[in-house]
Amino acid sequence: MAFITRTAAQLRSEISRRGPADNSVALVPTMGALHEGHAALVSQAREENDLVVVSIFVNPLQFENLGDCEDYRNYPRQLDQDVALLSELGADIVFAPDTEAMYPDGQPMVWVRTGRLGDRLEGASRPGHFDGVATVVAKLFHLCRPDRAYFGQKDAQQVAVINRMVADLDFDVEVVPVPIIRAADGLAESSRNQRLSSTDRQHALALSQALFTLRDRAVAGQPLRSGEISAQLRTTAGVTLDHLEIVDPATLEPLADETALGRPALALVAAQVGPVRLIDNLRLEPPAAS
Ligand code: PAJ
Repeated sequence: MAFITRTAAQLRSEISRRGPADNSVALVPTMGALHEGHAALVSQAREENDLVVVSIFVNPLQFENLGDCEDYRNYPRQLDQDVALLSELGADIVFAPDTEAMYPDGQPMVWVRTGRLGDRLEGASRPGHFDGVATVVAKLFHLCRPDRAYFGQKDAQQVAVINRMVADLDFDVEVVPVPIIRAADGLAESSRNQRLSSTDRQHALALSQALFTLRDRAVAGQPLRSGEISAQLRTTAGVTLDHLEIVDPATLEPLADETALGRPALALVAAQVGPVRLIDNLRLEPPAAS
């Protein structure tokens, strides 16, 4: 059974009680409502480390109005079910603080600023979101002091932001990106999928299908014509497209030329479907050299 800690002090004492200093410690930060995507992160962390810590904290700082919004209030919370799954997966410690335990002095005065990397794409629609993510992840890194931290490629911009924070602020942690887990129909697993009706879910498939089309064009050496695919998504029933962009995988800067891919790129899509905003992405590979 995974051991539940609720405060920073409990977490620290549990980590030091469990292992000699040379044990490798993994952190998997989550907001709970765990699904197979999270499970992939935890399983990989379990294979690669001595001690696996999973945090479950719905972080108000990364939501609209610092959590004073429907998305935050409606975010699924199911701690008992999550702890049962984590125990099955072999996690050692669950860190599940409440907001008071995480931010005892109220909202932090000092934040991590993610600049241009956090202002584009998802950040353009959700101002301040990545500053909230980077701030809570910096706190989690300090509280847990992991050797490795596991993040899903599902949130590609989040991975880029955390990589950059670790490099720019000299955190002593290895960031391990884990591939996206999809349902059989292609939809990327997400805690928010719980809030899709079956019709919404059918509509949502247009997002992954758009990405698969781009991947097929890239590998066939065809022009990507992402504008044409965006136009299709804009007329797809039940989908309100936010953006579809082809970018450099590390900098997330838009590609200057989409006609023929010379090196790998990343296609990112975001849209409102029913009550939720969904994001997805896929790596585009150029044709194999013959
Ligand atoms: P959350 O949305 O709960 O996701 C936790 C981790 O699971 C993230 O690294 C995310 O990319 C990964 N994940 C989610 N769905 C996935 C999928 N289908 N395949 C692979 N990985 C997937 O991301 C957050 O929480 C928060 O922003 C957090 C980092 C915890 C900071 O609050």
